Amino acid sequence: MKKIVIFASGTGSNFEEIVIQSLRGNIDAEVALLVCDNQEAFVIEKANRYKIETCVFDPRSYASKKAYEQMILRRLKAIDITLIVLAGYMRLIGPTLLHAYPNRIINIHPSLLPAFKGLDAIGQAIKANVRVTGVTVHYVDAGMDTGRIIAQEALAITPPYHRKKIEHEIHQIEHKLYPKTIQQLLEERL
Ligand code: GRF
Repeated sequence: MKKIVIFASGTGSNFEEIVIQSLRGNIDAEVALLVCDNQEAFVIEKANRYKIETCVFDPRSYASKKAYEQMILRRLKAIDITLIVLAGYMRLIGPTLLHAYPNRIINIHPSLLPAFKGLDAIGQAIKANVRVTGVTVHYVDAGMDTGRIIAQEALAITPPYHRKKIEHEIHQIEHKLYPKTIQQLLEERL
């Protein structure tokens, strides 16, 4: 069985959906570990519920990004990982992990990249008064949301904007697009 590891910092709705699709056999891999940088994150509860191992750490107790990524790397090395999946992980991945897993780390971002990189992409789209936004799955490189695009799905939005509604629709797209894209990558169809 192939293994994927998920990195997340927050609610973990994408994490949960990926776990569910893996349990249903729609993703041909097991979620072997959750890596989380926030001890308060709800995603930890979700991992416990599904009996998924966790690696929870506090970045403030390490001298540098290199130091905590080396700790993560030691955990990851015990697993034969096919894919690392970022799902709301609020940190840039540093060279330690990037060099260990070239072309094997992916992320999901709530905009049609290269538009609206970084924090609050939905807010940025609203502010820019766009009529189309969406979701992007991309490879992770050293930049912020700059890696090669793997999959995208658009969402039409019209003013007056209802932020909550847009957030909900974006999440619904994410919950379908991410598992589907992960499975395609596992099958090497992308
Ligand atoms: C998602 O909107 C994702 O695009 C972004 O962070 C959010 C995570 O949401 N990178 P959740 O924790 O999976 O609910």
